[in-house]
Amino acid sequence: MRKVFAFIGSPLKEASNTSTITKMLLDRLVELDESIEYEILTSGHVRIDHCRGCWTCMTRGFCPRDEHDDMGMLREKMLMADFIILGSPVYIMHISGQMKIFIDRLCAWFHLIRLAGKPGLTVATTASQGSRRFMNTSACSCVRWASSLSAISIRMVISRS
Ligand SMILES: Cc1cc2nc3c(=O)[nH]c(=O)nc-3n(C[C@H](O)[C@H](O)[C@H](O)COP(=O)(O)O)c2cc1C
Repeated sequence: MRKVFAFIGSPLKEASNTSTITKMLLDRLVELDESIEYEILTSGHVRIDHCRGCWTCMTRGFCPRDEHDDMGMLREKMLMADFIILGSPVYIMHISGQMKIFIDRLCAWFHLIRLAGKPGLTVATTASQGSRRFMNTSACSCVRWASSLSAISIRMVISRS
């Protein structure tokens, strides 16, 4: 059995475009390989507080906020997963604020490359523009950095017309 964990930085839950696209992809994968299990959580399902900038993660190896919100649970899910998907809607040509807060809370993990070697995928959705910039510039690098390795990216424009 292979476990996939997807975190989507959208305030929406199942109605999230980014979550929906990710689910479609994962459902197809499960059709191809029944041993794959997946879980998708969005920012709408969990509480993630801002980074307080206290540096405890870097100096003492843990985040004091993990006891007060869902970040400890999310870390556990990422460590247990064989494959991680990080997705975000494009908000004003960038990753969403929700995704940025999530990434900020993982700061020490990035420096320690805690997720190194774990394969990952980034997914972005946009109404019209910003996805290419999202994928080619710092926003996406941020997400790639988060998973330490994410060779594949999907970007999708979802038009309402
Ligand atoms: C606050 C906000 C900012 C947005 N900024 C952009 C943008 O800069 N470019 C764009 O094409 N779409 C933008 N959109 C549209 C979203 O990227 C698009 O609807 C996305 O698929 C939403 O994903 P979600 O349903 O997973 O939250 C924005 C939406 C919101 C709510």
